[in-house]
Amino acid sequence: MTNSSGSSLWFTVLATAAITAGLVETYHRYILSTTSSSSSSSSSSTSSPPTKRVDQQKEHSEELIREQLARNYAFLSDEGMTKVRNQRIVLVGAGGVGSWVATMLIRSGVENLKIIDFDQVSLSSLNRHAVATLADVGISKVDCLKNHLLQICPWANIVVKNQLWNINNSNALIYGEDGEDDFNPTYVIDCIDNIDTKVDLLTFCYENKLPVISSGGAACKSDPTRINISDISKTEEDPLARSVRIRLKKRGILTNIPVVFSAEKPDPRKAQLLPLSTEEIEKGSVDQLAALQNFRVRILPVLGTMPGMFGLTIATYLITSISGYPIEPIEGKNRYKIYDGMLQSLAGQQSRIGKLEQRIPISLNDVPYILEEIYRGKSPISNYSTRLTLSRWDPAQELSFQNVVIMTKEEQKAHEDSVLNGGKSLTEFYSQDILDRVEQRFKEEKYYSQFR
Ligand SMILES: *[C@@H]1O[C@H](CO)[C@@H](O)[C@H](O)[C@H]1NC(C)=O
Ligand SMILES: *[C@@H]1O[C@H](CO)[C@@H](O)[C@H](O)[C@H]1NC(C)=O
Ligand SMILES: *[C@@H]1O[C@H](CO)[C@@H](O)[C@H](O)[C@H]1NC(C)=O
Repeated sequence: MTNSSGSSLWFTVLATAAITAGLVETYHRYILSTTSSSSSSSSSSTSSPPTKRVDQQKEHSEELIREQLARNYAFLSDEGMTKVRNQRIVLVGAGGVGSWVATMLIRSGVENLKIIDFDQVSLSSLNRHAVATLADVGISKVDCLKNHLLQICPWANIVVKNQLWNINNSNALIYGEDGEDDFNPTYVIDCIDNIDTKVDLLTFCYENKLPVISSGGAACKSDPTRINISDISKTEEDPLARSVRIRLKKRGILTNIPVVFSAEKPDPRKAQLLPLSTEEIEKGSVDQLAALQNFRVRILPVLGTMPGMFGLTIATYLITSISGYPIEPIEGKNRYKIYDGMLQSLAGQQSRIGKLEQRIPISLNDVPYILEEIYRGKSPISNYSTRLTLSRWDPAQELSFQNVVIMTKEEQKAHEDSVLNGGKSLTEFYSQDILDRVEQRFKEEKYYSQFR
């Protein structure tokens, strides 16, 4: 690092620190003024820290909100953050998974959150809860979350319903029947651990065309590398999601519900999910669903970190997809659909450039190799990693492993229009930098090809 950039970096750090200090001071003055004016009945001294309970929404300066969310603004842009802040999310289930979802949604700027749960904080749930303390044991889970989250984002509108959601009160709880709490949800999050209720909630969302994301079971799971997001039709090794899938199928709902789950396999040396033997359940002689029916009254082995990771996965998925941030989750088997699409696109290109008769020397199984190994999952032109496809590179050469490039669909079109069909040379159309990078990839492929 050069001297001048070093000192300008220091300047930035100092300036940021000064601004932050200023804001923190403003904030403390603000807290003092609001707490002293709102709690006029309590005559306690103003020097004591703000009271623990923050019970209602308060006015809050937009400047402070923006500073608190500065890193998310930097990440998701103004436009993305406007979308996040305008969400109206209903969270059903406020336990080990739900408490993390609620916490990170509120911390990330979501301003309207309704939390539904009938249960209370128990001592044994403290191993996995996002915010509950010993003092919260015995109070309702929803109030516990509201109290803590309003201390983080006092401007948020957190509506809580300390009730068991079920199909008979579904409308009232999700939408609000009486004009006074019309919630107009944009998204529903299912963190329920009871199968019946879960299936009813997912059915309700399906019928009402409410976007929903569902949590699978985190009990007995311990491998962080196996956590996945996939469609309900494709989860593996998750008995909760599996039972839900079977039941939904009976109601004609097969797909289009994203589920966070873990594909970690059970192992006799690992914590076990069910007292019933797996054979009994597989046979289906016992109603396998009944075995799981009272999921929540059993004492399940739960490693506290895992529900948290499920919750953070849901929150991340939601925030990125809502804000329009480019994501393309790996979906296991489903990935082959993407590979197939890429290959089809290359075949389509052959016909568009009048080379229809030429054989494509690349098979479906070669696509992941080219995409992941050679191009490391990104376009050498833009470094983008979404909406990728394959394209012939040099029109003068035969199509081969060393003449096919990963690029975005937009880049493929431009490449076709200008180079493959337009008669521009590669050197005219691309910078030396890009040409070198592509050449580098071809060289690597050539090197790897001796082992294929
Ligand atoms: C909903 O109401 C129906 C009839 O009123 C009743 O049979 C059913 O058990 C109720 N369901 C739940 C989950 O309370
Ligand atoms: C989960 O994701 C990984 C990639 O991270 C993938 O290899 C695996 O097949 C996925 N599992 C399932 C069941 O979808
Ligand atoms: C892409 O990444 C490479 C480093 O791997 C960098 O040299 C290049 O400038 C980047 N290109 C773009 C368009 O960001």
